[in-house]
Amino acid sequence: MAKPACSYCLLFALLVSFASAAKDDQDKQVYIVYMGALPARVDYMPMSHHTSLLQEVIGESSIENRLVRSYKRSFNGFAARLTESEREILANMEDVVSVFPSKKLKLQTTMSWDFMGLKEGKRAKRNPSIESNTIIGVIDSGIYPESESFSDKGFGPPPKKWKGVCEGGTNFSCNNKLIGARSYTPKTNEFPHSARDNMGHGTHTASTAAGNAVKDVSFYGLGNGTARGGVPAARIAVYKVCEAGFEGCTGDGILSAYDDAIADNVDLITISIGGDTGQPFEVDPTAIGAFHAMAKGILTLNSAGNSGPESSTVSSIAPWIFTVAASNTNRGFVTKVVLGDGKTVVGRSVNSFDLKGTKYPLVYGESATRSCDADSARFCSPGCLDSKLVKGKIVLCDSAEHPDEAQAMGAIASITKSSKADFATIFSFSVSVLSEDDYNTVLSYMNSTKNPKAAVLKSGTTFKQTAPVIASYSSRGPNTIIPDILKPDITAPGSEILAAYSPDAPPSKSDTRHVKYSLLTGTSMSCPHVAGVAAYLKTFHPRWSPSMIQSAIMTTAWPMNASASPINEMDEFAYGAGHVDPISAIHPGLVYEANKSDHIAFLCGLNYTGKNLKLISGDSVSCTKEQTKSLPRNLNYPSMTAQVSATKPFKVAFRRTVTNVGMSNSTYKAKVVGTKLKAKVVPGVLSFKSLHEKKSFTVTVSGKGPGAEKLVSTHLIWSDGFHSVRSPIVVYASY
Ligand SMILES: *[C@@H]1O[C@H](CO)[C@@H](O)[C@H](O)[C@H]1NC(C)=O
Ligand SMILES: *[C@@H]1O[C@H](CO)[C@@H](O)[C@H](O)[C@H]1NC(C)=O
Ligand SMILES: *[C@@H]1O[C@H](CO)[C@@H](O)[C@H](O)[C@H]1NC(C)=O
Ligand SMILES: *[C@@H]1O[C@H](CO)[C@@H](O)[C@H](O)[C@H]1NC(C)=O
Ligand SMILES: *[C@@H]1O[C@H](CO)[C@@H](O)[C@H](O)[C@H]1NC(C)=O
Ligand SMILES: *[C@@H]1O[C@H](CO)[C@@H](O)[C@H](O)[C@H]1NC(C)=O
Ligand SMILES: *[C@@H]1O[C@H](CO)[C@@H](O)[C@H](O)[C@H]1NC(C)=O
Repeated sequence: MAKPACSYCLLFALLVSFASAAKDDQDKQVYIVYMGALPARVDYMPMSHHTSLLQEVIGESSIENRLVRSYKRSFNGFAARLTESEREILANMEDVVSVFPSKKLKLQTTMSWDFMGLKEGKRAKRNPSIESNTIIGVIDSGIYPESESFSDKGFGPPPKKWKGVCEGGTNFSCNNKLIGARSYTPKTNEFPHSARDNMGHGTHTASTAAGNAVKDVSFYGLGNGTARGGVPAARIAVYKVCEAGFEGCTGDGILSAYDDAIADNVDLITISIGGDTGQPFEVDPTAIGAFHAMAKGILTLNSAGNSGPESSTVSSIAPWIFTVAASNTNRGFVTKVVLGDGKTVVGRSVNSFDLKGTKYPLVYGESATRSCDADSARFCSPGCLDSKLVKGKIVLCDSAEHPDEAQAMGAIASITKSSKADFATIFSFSVSVLSEDDYNTVLSYMNSTKNPKAAVLKSGTTFKQTAPVIASYSSRGPNTIIPDILKPDITAPGSEILAAYSPDAPPSKSDTRHVKYSLLTGTSMSCPHVAGVAAYLKTFHPRWSPSMIQSAIMTTAWPMNASASPINEMDEFAYGAGHVDPISAIHPGLVYEANKSDHIAFLCGLNYTGKNLKLISGDSVSCTKEQTKSLPRNLNYPSMTAQVSATKPFKVAFRRTVTNVGMSNSTYKAKVVGTKLKAKVVPGVLSFKSLHEKKSFTVTVSGKGPGAEKLVSTHLIWSDGFHSVRSPIVVYASY
């Protein structure tokens, strides 16, 4: 830049350079440059390698504002702002495995542990000394470190193996419970570098997995009881990748979180973040990071997604990730609406506001507008409601999306409807969410009288004794990327979960309250439940590999009843192996193991070769001829799935190997439950003489074509009279 001759010119020059910088930034985006495994050479310096590669490509020595981050501890690579042509040059470089855009991903947003059988007291044995050596890595929106759920009263120093740090920013302290914190969110003036949680989500998931037992907590009296994580004696390390001001979580940040969490020596990783659909492994930071974690013996738990009940929506699809769906517990929050004629309808919501049963005039959003057409107004769309027409009234809105519009215009309460009325949400004022039928009851009451009135009551709690039902929002299979791997794997409680929250985050949109405990719903909430179970299991079997832990939890799951929910279609594509059962998982009898080489053979069978294979595994391995022939459905997975033709008869074989982890001397017999599929197991009896002995078998299923978008399923059970090792078998035609 030419030297400016006057101060005016300086200002002008600055403006010009800002303008061109802004233009430049528009052609650039953040790409992840993945370079596979770290070279074994002792003198290899990843960061200087990343810098020189980048300098070479952009042709400038200053890489300021270009290098976003370096991956250097558990695998090799970096993230950088690149133009399309720079991306191309890098992608063709020898050291570079692949270059892909860093996409934005989403967060997938006390009672529950008792419901699952992991009660305090007699039935659940605990190993407190081993539990306190367990470190849970939470990749999320940070944490509220002052929460009682993370107090370190009674905790000794961190386990010796811990290699992490506390870099939570200013005014952030770790302790002997919360032993580590790192942040990967972009720094802005409004949001300085900090691992502090300004969304509430990360605090909630961390406390669900491993929070202390804290007595008498509730959301304004609702859901009161003891909030407790799955492994209260375990340690927590947080990796913040999501930020409220930023409205998302970056792929490049997630990959950094894995890079550090693996090297920090966490025991398992829980990540309640994902996209809307499954992505190929090579462009999915969670799949890449979790592969490296698996190779180091660290299990990754990931939420299935909240895009249900539509099929093919599960976003977590890799077999080296344990994918968790969400179900309802036996507790529900109900909010009654009492009409002027005395009739009562029961809706869902978490309504802590007590209007003392007073009845207020009812008005329909459709007729409370002067600026919108009826179709926008009946949804109470932003800007439609007229405050003169709604002030002091209860407003009916056809959608539960914008009740805060009614509040902003001075309404006392709102009545809305939802087709997904199987869970309750918090609102910033009195709201009841009704089913279509009940909503129509209110509308016809309004039609029948001149001065319609109603009262929206404070929420109450109901307890149902029915079996768990999959939540409507929980993402469903089949797996769109790997058709022969069943996803999700398991289900756990995800609706209306009470856990720690950040008072820095509002409990709902437009809410001015500050709470330390709140109720959230989503597969985000079920995922840390299973993380807690996995950690609990690891305290009994510290040497078990990720696949052994996953297998133990899947083969001991409670069977779900597909016909238990009339409103909500459910099958194995909704719940996988069933509902997690922490106590049974301790003694699975047999496990299905799959190590890193098994997963590489699986990728070879999917026609991953050379660079592509390295992209996931990180090592430069090549497929053997035999590996190339391995069928994805023969991965030693605890469930068996095959996609077949809709109309032609099929005969499919699954090859599996089980490892004896029960009693040294034992004999297991195969049983296939249900009559929907013809199945043959060879051999039908497996005799073990010692622990860790392996035996292989083949399951062959046959039948006529299931019909388009249809699934037929059955279960294989290996039983020795004590253990029951259960695997779903699913055959389906494309959805
Ligand atoms: C530190 O954080 C706590 C909790 O959010 C807050 O109450 C306190 O004011 C903060 N202190 C400073 C100096 O920012
Ligand atoms: C919750 O509060 C209600 C009402 O105060 C009380 O009856 C109930 O015993 C409490 N439950 C627990 C678990 O504390
Ligand atoms: C209420 O009355 C309006 C106009 O008469 C009619 O279109 C509507 O269907 C009625 N709604 C119900 C739920 O009865
Ligand atoms: C499954 O649910 C249906 C409908 O509620 C019920 O009739 C059936 O008995 C249940 N089956 C089992 C095995 O519980
Ligand atoms: C992985 O498991 C296979 C059997 O599936 C076994 O042959 C191999 O030795 C194992 N590899 C490692 C590194 O343990
Ligand atoms: C892999 O390639 C072979 C040969 O081209 C093909 O038969 C097979 O279906 C492919 N497998 C997958 C999983 O795409
Ligand atoms: C295992 O079973 C066999 C046959 O039932 C028996 O001879 C042997 O003593 C048993 N071994 C152990 C260690 O229990």
